[in-house]
Amino acid sequence: MSEHATPSAPAAPPDLSESRFLRACRRQPVDAMPVWLMRQAGRYMSEYRALRERYGILDIIKAPELAREVTLQPLDAFDLDAAILFSDILLPLEVMGYDLAFVKGDGPVIGNPTRTLADVVRLKQPDLARDLGFTFEAIRLIREATDRRGIPLIGFAGAPFTLASYAVEGGGSKNRVLVKSLMWGQPETWHALMSQLADVTGHYLLMQAQAGAHALQVFDSWVGELSPDDYRRFVMPYTAQAIAIARGAGVPIIHFGTGTSSLLELMRDAGGDVIGVDWRTPLDVARQRLGDGVATQGNLDPVALFAPWESVRDQTRRILDSVRGQAGHIFNLGHGILPQTPVETVRRLVEFVHDDTRV
Ligand code: CP3
Repeated sequence: MSEHATPSAPAAPPDLSESRFLRACRRQPVDAMPVWLMRQAGRYMSEYRALRERYGILDIIKAPELAREVTLQPLDAFDLDAAILFSDILLPLEVMGYDLAFVKGDGPVIGNPTRTLADVVRLKQPDLARDLGFTFEAIRLIREATDRRGIPLIGFAGAPFTLASYAVEGGGSKNRVLVKSLMWGQPETWHALMSQLADVTGHYLLMQAQAGAHALQVFDSWVGELSPDDYRRFVMPYTAQAIAIARGAGVPIIHFGTGTSSLLELMRDAGGDVIGVDWRTPLDVARQRLGDGVATQGNLDPVALFAPWESVRDQTRRILDSVRGQAGHIFNLGHGILPQTPVETVRRLVEFVHDDTRV
C-alpha cells in the first residue's frame, strides 16, 4: 500500500469546535460575542451584484465554484464569525418535482403548486446525494477556504411549513390563504405533503453536516403567521421530525422564524440548540421564556441598518446590554439583510459587536 500513498497527504481539517460561534451554540463563554448576518451574501454587496450580471441565482447555486465565491464575499468584507453556504431554501422543492424559477421583481415562482392529494402523490422521492450533489460539493469546496480562515460553515434548509407555503401558494404570499385553506380543509393532503417535506428537509440537513457543515439552520421564516394551536397541530410534529433526523449529525441546530412571539416555547420544544428571535420580542424576555437549555440568536431589525450610525449603535448596544455577561447568544439580525443596506454600516456593526463585548 505504502508505495501508492500520496506524497503529501492533505492536512487534517482544523478543529473549529472552540470557535466563538460554536462555543456560543453550546452556551459556553466566549472572548467576544460571535456575529453573522442572515443573507450575508447578497445584493447589498457590489461584488454579488457584479456576479449576478453574468449569472442567474440558480446558476450560482448549482455551480460549486461560484457558490464558494459568493459565500466568501462577505467574509472578505467583514470580520464575521461564521460563513453560510450560498444556496436557497427552495432548491429541495425543485428536486421533488416543482418547477422553480426566480423572476426578477417577483421573487420565486413555482409553476405547478400543490393543491390536491393527487399533486402530493405525484411528487418525486429525490435522491438527495445525486440531485443536490452540487450542494455537498460546494460545502467541500467552501470548507477548504473557510478552514484556512478558521471560520465555521453553516448549512441550512427550509422548515416544512415555510416550504409548504411556497409549494402551495406557488410563490410568495401576503395572507397565505391557499396554504392555510389546504391545511384546514384537506388534512389528508396536508399531512401527506408535510411528512414528505419533513423527510426531505431532515435528510438534506443531515447530509450537509456529513459533507462538512459545522452547524445547521432551519429557516421557518413564515411560521409566525400561525396561531399556537395551529402550529402545535399542523406544523410542530413535522418540524420536530426534520430536526430529529438532522440531529443524527451531532452538530448544533439553529431554529429560526419571524413573528414568533407567541410560538417561542413551542419552537424550542420542536427542537434546536439555538432559537432565532426577531426584533418584535425583546431578547431578555425571549431568553427568560426559553430558559437556559438553549442559546439564542438575533435580533436587530434589518431596517435599523438604514438609520444613521449613532442610532444603529444605540439599538445594537441595547441588545448587547440585555445579554451582557451571559453565555449563549449569537448576534444577528432578526431577519435577512435587505438589498439596499449600506455596506459601511454593516462593517461598523460587526466591528462594534466584537468591540463592545470583548472580555
Ligand atoms: O444567507 C446567505 O447568505 C445564504 C443565502 C440564502 C439565500 N436565500 C440566497 C438568496 C439563504 C439562507 C436563503 C434563504 C431563503 N430563501 C429564505 C429563508 C430566509 C428568509 O429570508 O426568510 C427564504 C424565504 C427564501 C426564498 C427566497 N429566495 C425569496 C423569497 C427570494 C426573493 C426575495 C429576494 O430577497 O429577492 C429568494 C431569492 C434569493 N435567495 C436571493 C438571495 C441572495 C436574492 C435573489 C437575487 O440574487 O436576485
